[in-house]
Amino acid sequence: MERIINTNHKEFEKLPVQIFKQASEASLSVANIISDEIIKNNALGKHTVLGLATGATPTNVYDVLVDKHKNDGLDFSNVYCFNLDEYYPMQPTSLQSYVRYMDEYFFNHVNVPKEHIFIPDGTLDRSEIIEFCNSYENKIEELGGLDIQILGIGRTGHIGFNEPGSSLSSKTRLIALDSVTMLDAASSFFGVENVPKQAITMGVGTILNAKKLLLMAWGEGKADIIKETVEGSITHQVPATYLQKHENAQVIVDKAAAAKLTRIKTPWLVGPISWTDALIKKAVVWLSLELGKSILKLTDQDYSEHGMNDILIDFGLAYSINIKVFNEIQNTITGWPGGKPNTNDERRPERKAPFPKRVLIFSPHPDDDVISMGGTFIRLVDQGHEVHVAYQTSGNIAVFDDDALRFADFVSEFNSLFSIKSEETKRVYDQASNFLIQKEASEPDSDLVKEIKGLIRRSEAKAASRYIGLPDEQIHFLDLPFYETGKIRKKPLGEEDVRIVEDIIKEIQPHQIYAAGDLSDPHGTHRVCLNSILKAIDNIKDLKWMDDCWLWLYRGAWQEWDIGDIEMAVPLSPEEKDKKRSAIFKHQSQKDRPLFPGTDKREFWQRVEDRNKQTATLYDELGLAEYEAIEAFVRYKF
Ligand code: F6R
Repeated sequence: MERIINTNHKEFEKLPVQIFKQASEASLSVANIISDEIIKNNALGKHTVLGLATGATPTNVYDVLVDKHKNDGLDFSNVYCFNLDEYYPMQPTSLQSYVRYMDEYFFNHVNVPKEHIFIPDGTLDRSEIIEFCNSYENKIEELGGLDIQILGIGRTGHIGFNEPGSSLSSKTRLIALDSVTMLDAASSFFGVENVPKQAITMGVGTILNAKKLLLMAWGEGKADIIKETVEGSITHQVPATYLQKHENAQVIVDKAAAAKLTRIKTPWLVGPISWTDALIKKAVVWLSLELGKSILKLTDQDYSEHGMNDILIDFGLAYSINIKVFNEIQNTITGWPGGKPNTNDERRPERKAPFPKRVLIFSPHPDDDVISMGGTFIRLVDQGHEVHVAYQTSGNIAVFDDDALRFADFVSEFNSLFSIKSEETKRVYDQASNFLIQKEASEPDSDLVKEIKGLIRRSEAKAASRYIGLPDEQIHFLDLPFYETGKIRKKPLGEEDVRIVEDIIKEIQPHQIYAAGDLSDPHGTHRVCLNSILKAIDNIKDLKWMDDCWLWLYRGAWQEWDIGDIEMAVPLSPEEKDKKRSAIFKHQSQKDRPLFPGTDKREFWQRVEDRNKQTATLYDELGLAEYEAIEAFVRYKF
């Protein structure tokens, strides 16, 4: 979908924003700004002072800078670096320490002299912190201030760890972390209870004194806070809005993080645009929901008053546009996700033939299939298709230690009860239990414990798929290697991962593939899993049978497709909804409280039931039939 981006957006945006298609391109542009500054200063014999950030956002910027050092000789010998923050308390050797992070991503690979590196010290005694913070400020000042400060943004709107309530003039200090920030950090610390409650951070005033500020954000999880930062009023409730006071601040985002900006979400409010069918649908859906009027009741006046007058000029009266869009949405609804045999399929989302189809459902973790498309999964099986499910990763890091211990204990007791030769079992059990008993909070698991945790999730996934009616030979476990680090940080997607995915597609030769098209997974696993599928498909797209293969994307547990983008909507009856819930309950290790809950306190089944109900409600509000729940899909065309 092409959009004309016109310049009227400046009416809405109070900060300069650059939108890149991909985070990688955006990171490259930030790295270029930094390297240009260093090269310019080096040539003048001047030093450069950089303010650096940690977290998921800047990793690619560091990768590019390291690459420039190694391959283009970018010289850091006259560069000073000040990091924004560090958890408190924190040992520099801890997995989660920002000292360790900076070494691993950056300092170990470039020639910044050790004595030029400054990072807030998480090991200080409380009584030493004030003095440390003052001297941190003084050092920055002595060096002439920060030339460039790079920033990520937290979902609270924090910059550094300046949480809501931070003042404009705040300096480097100890601060209590917001509960949202702690929940966001929970995954890196293996549970929110292990996240330090405090941090030492540069202040807002320290940051705003930098000569240039570059605020980066990637992914749809950041879209709301970016809108507030860029379009909202300056408020201490969203510290990033203070950037609006800076003369040389830039916001650099990828498309997903820009999605809620007015110029992207509702470009017709910003100025004239060139209308496409997809944009008209999106705009009409927006107008209907905004006015609380069903589509068929929208009037010419409603269109004109909401920046959509030119649709009327180009496409006729509201009445005919309403009918066109209403019919398009009506045609997305089907109770036959695998296609309805012996019928006219011209206006249906799926083809009627062949019937039955071979269907391959990819599930990034062992429960995404039933959570995100359990109702559709049930229908596909009940309607006689040959359904296969492939679990892409083992999901082992999301199992609680005491569950691993309980299962190891069960096997050990089972073997002794039935006098099964148990020496080896006992040895393995002792090894696992000793490890788990001595394990420090926030320490990664041993290989053995990872295996046990993986087995737990595997047996749960089998139970759920069997409950839906799949025979064991149609349940596949791929255990993609990129995932198996035992840590939140995964390896990059490798050739082996893509080959495994390619092999299963070739083996099944499906007519339909379902995959998680979800980009806001906090650990990025869904994104990597989707990439593995897209790459595998790209490798084999020329095979004849691939002409007959359609790819449908569902969304994971975090978010639903926009109504205007949905291409297949599968309604669930109350009974199907109950059956889906029972299938989700087979994933016992994820019940009651998942290990990585994110900020949402609801269990996965509750989130998804609310979401499926919400989709049904929105369809109803648009004037379509009222269903109990709806699962939604978008077709990916390759
Ligand atoms: C990190 C920092 C934080 C992060 C922010 C976003 O040094 O100061 O403000 O930039 O929490 O974190 P990610 O990038 O992990 O989303």
